[in-house]
Amino acid sequence: MVDVSRRDFIKGGLLASIALAAAAAGAPLIQYLTSERVVVGKVSGGEKSKLPMKIANKNDLQPDSQIQFMMPLNPDGSRGQHPSILIRLRSELAQKAGTEFKAFSAICTHLGCIVHLEPGDDIYCPCHAGYFDPVTGNVLAGPPKKPLPEIELKIDENGDIYAVGWK
Ligand code: FES
Repeated sequence: MVDVSRRDFIKGGLLASIALAAAAAGAPLIQYLTSERVVVGKVSGGEKSKLPMKIANKNDLQPDSQIQFMMPLNPDGSRGQHPSILIRLRSELAQKAGTEFKAFSAICTHLGCIVHLEPGDDIYCPCHAGYFDPVTGNVLAGPPKKPLPEIELKIDENGDIYAVGWK
């Protein structure tokens, strides 16, 4: 009787430890998904598989902010919904880039966590503190070795921003 209780206790403790570890591992993703600065771009059914694809209007983003959206293609050209970010650069970066808007894959090139723009800073991966340049997508710090794949954008006369394809 005592042995069974001890076994159950140990089993319960082990399960609780696993649950806590899983929660800790998922915390950065949950934090990212519930963060106020993340606006998830809506992609309606008909637009899902077509490029160019409207992402947003210029007025939908303040400088130094981002919108998350799904590209209907992966960077390797295969079909798939690829998490991506549209960034409106803060003014000093926009001058350097020669454009206000940039878009990149949101999948970190290290181990695949979701990256986001840190306001006033760079593109950040919370998993292992990877930093990417919001103008070029190049790695600035941390373990990633490859830049974020960039998306070619087109902006029409109404200020609507379209993803054209991967650069
Ligand atoms: S997964 Fe992004 S830094 Fe490791």
